[in-house]
Amino acid sequence: MKEDRFYMPVRVFSCREVVRSHAKDLAKLGKKALIVTGRHSAKACGVYDDICAALDEYGIGHALFDGVEENPSAATVMKARDFGVQEKADFVIGAGGGSPMDAAKAIALMIRHASEGRDYLYTKDADSSTVPVVCIPTTCGTGSEVTAVSVLTNEVKHTKGSIPHKIFPDLALIDGKYLAGASGQVLCNTAFDALAHLYESWLNADAGPISRLIAEDGLREWKKCLPVLKKEKQPDPDDYDTLMRAAMLGGMAIAHTGTSIPHALSYALTYHLHVAHGKAVCYFLAGYLKEADQQDASRILELSGFSSAEEFHTAYRLCCHDLEIEDDQLLPVIEQSCKDVSSNPARCAKAPYPCDEDTIRRIAFYARKQEGS
Ligand SMILES: [Fe+2]
Repeated sequence: MKEDRFYMPVRVFSCREVVRSHAKDLAKLGKKALIVTGRHSAKACGVYDDICAALDEYGIGHALFDGVEENPSAATVMKARDFGVQEKADFVIGAGGGSPMDAAKAIALMIRHASEGRDYLYTKDADSSTVPVVCIPTTCGTGSEVTAVSVLTNEVKHTKGSIPHKIFPDLALIDGKYLAGASGQVLCNTAFDALAHLYESWLNADAGPISRLIAEDGLREWKKCLPVLKKEKQPDPDDYDTLMRAAMLGGMAIAHTGTSIPHALSYALTYHLHVAHGKAVCYFLAGYLKEADQQDASRILELSGFSSAEEFHTAYRLCCHDLEIEDDQLLPVIEQSCKDVSSNPARCAKAPYPCDEDTIRRIAFYARKQEGS
């Protein structure tokens, strides 16, 4: 029997009013928090006020860095680090979607290593210890609150990818109420990212019995929200909790396995053509399923409410809409992405089936063929 391993060291609390009810757990982490958010949504959805109230209750200081852009750059991380050091912050709270949470992990690393420069972010086998870091999601996709991954834009190399440091948050606080203000499009793009995590983790060479158990539970939760995503039902508080739970389970699953070919192919679409992450990933997901063992594919499709890869792809197009990018822009990017992914053996090895350049191309161009048919 193949050895099964699982490691998930994040303390997770998930309930209504979780930030206020776990104020004491936040207060234990330090004397002054650097709160890391995007520009608007953390204030709009109420999480910023909740964090301030929780910290104020215990007399913990706080400073706000609200300059995290989508697909945060290493430059932004360094700017926030300098601000955090200047403010004498001794722990970091990242609140928002994947971008503020991923940035928060990297900022916590760089505050801990305050004398180091930008290159430290990309130094392999260096000390990855951080000051304590808390993640509070306000979207339902990334699962970053329970993963060790920090994806940053490398503005020097013109790419986007995970930094080599593995940084699990110390604490994840999850409350579906923060989704209530999200637009239908944000809800769909992020929920489909969560679905991709669940599929890519289950259909992964590194999947094991425990990670598959978690992915399958996530798929069952995700299925419950399909009517909301298709706009057949108005979301209620239980739906928001369920979406958050599906995203968290997707995060736990990929924390173990990593993602696979669809994520690898998607980064160029996001970097060069500004396609939202979840939408870009799912563009390649049906193709990935078509290449898999069909019993396996049917199992996970069924668990998430679809009878076939085609039905999934139709739902994806309905919820996330077509790319609407001209061929002369789109095709060179996909072509290049196919070459990059197929020349990366570690990436190809994530698929649970042999993945040569022809296979990658079939995956990458499946969606386009569907649109043309
Ligand atoms: Fe993702």
